[in-house]
Amino acid sequence: MASETDIETVAVDLRRRLAGQLQEDGWLRSPAWRAAVEATPRHLFVPRFYRESNTPGVTTWEPVTPETAGQEEWLRLVYTDETWMTQFDSRDIDWADPKPISNAAPTSSSTLPSLVVRMLEDLDVQDGMNILEIGTGTGYSTALMCHRLGSERVASIETDDGVARRAREALTTAGYTPRLLVGDGRAGHPDGAPYDRLIATCGFRNIPPAWLNQVQPGGVILTTLRGWMRSLGLVKLIVTGDSASGWFSEDDPSFMIARQQDAPESLGMIPAPDDGTTRKATYGPEVLSSSGPAFMAQLAAPDARSFSMAVDGGPASTFVLDSVTDSFAVLAPTDDGWQVRQGGPRRLWEAVESAVGTWEEYGSPSTAAFGVTVSRGEQVVWLGNPNGPQWPLPS
Ligand SMILES: C[S@@+](CC[C@H](N)C(=O)[O-])C[C@H]1O[C@@H](n2cnc3c(N)ncnc32)[C@H](O)[C@@H]1O
Repeated sequence: MASETDIETVAVDLRRRLAGQLQEDGWLRSPAWRAAVEATPRHLFVPRFYRESNTPGVTTWEPVTPETAGQEEWLRLVYTDETWMTQFDSRDIDWADPKPISNAAPTSSSTLPSLVVRMLEDLDVQDGMNILEIGTGTGYSTALMCHRLGSERVASIETDDGVARRAREALTTAGYTPRLLVGDGRAGHPDGAPYDRLIATCGFRNIPPAWLNQVQPGGVILTTLRGWMRSLGLVKLIVTGDSASGWFSEDDPSFMIARQQDAPESLGMIPAPDDGTTRKATYGPEVLSSSGPAFMAQLAAPDARSFSMAVDGGPASTFVLDSVTDSFAVLAPTDDGWQVRQGGPRRLWEAVESAVGTWEEYGSPSTAAFGVTVSRGEQVVWLGNPNGPQWPLPS
């Protein structure tokens, strides 16, 4: 086993290469953030992690530690532009005897460095600004901010005790002392307010109202929004007193959903074969899987989830179930397209078809044509401009 000094010598070189690659790829745009990447020892924050293995069929993750992979390979992997998983199903890993993991949901990770630095660049920070991070995770992104602004300017909230404890240890070892809090980031941290910038590295179904009170006018909130079917993408809001407004980015990066907002375990009642009313569908279930239409479907049916299942030995039908209002839509193939059977208080497929129709009328734009306005009373996603077509975010 090489000494800490040997590891650091190799790591310095690997960090320089990672920073060079991130700059070449256009993610790192400023010398100050490049210096932070070159200085921050990611290997202290991901001393052990899981990576997806190439097992066909079921998604499986395998442990990577200096022992399992060899020190050189472990260190090389740490400094690649990859997301490394560090927790599943909110349970800590038994690192004394780590086993491959499958049928589990990642609940903490060190995010893809290119996404981390791209978000940090998007934040437009200046020296002397106060920043609040939601989702400390391993503490790597917190460390980058501490390097850039000074530990006293950084506060970070993590919901999971064990994750927060390990992040604190790693940050301390790296020489950083930000204010670290354990709790639900939706409440922010009023004692440290006002903040100039708020950045969230887990996804939310809406913008937590407390954030508006804690970010000062002119300040920025940068977060991903997501639903139970898919991510809506990254939104950058400028706070103006009691409200905030801003645009989605061109692509739709995705973060794991805030733990308190995860979908209910039960998908809801599967409707009986004669429940609901049937009509010919304008769009089939393909809208749920092609990028632009799926974004619209998520907006139109914010509490829904979908799955496909063969009914009575026949062809597969697609079920869209909203367990919040007990509404459903079932899409079944016909000789010349699809029929939809709907029931419950929300006509789910009506809402999806109308949203996809609007998107097509507007020329099938990317997510960059959409924005969000948040005020005390409501939160809406709009298309084109704040007075354009609108879809409310779930409250
Ligand atoms: C993708 S990881 C964060 C990555 C981290 N920034 C890094 O660079 O390592 C998301 C983290 O958000 C945390 N989280 C989930 N819901 C949260 C909440 N409501 N408040 C604060 N943290 C939350 C998770 O426990 C997880 O550690």
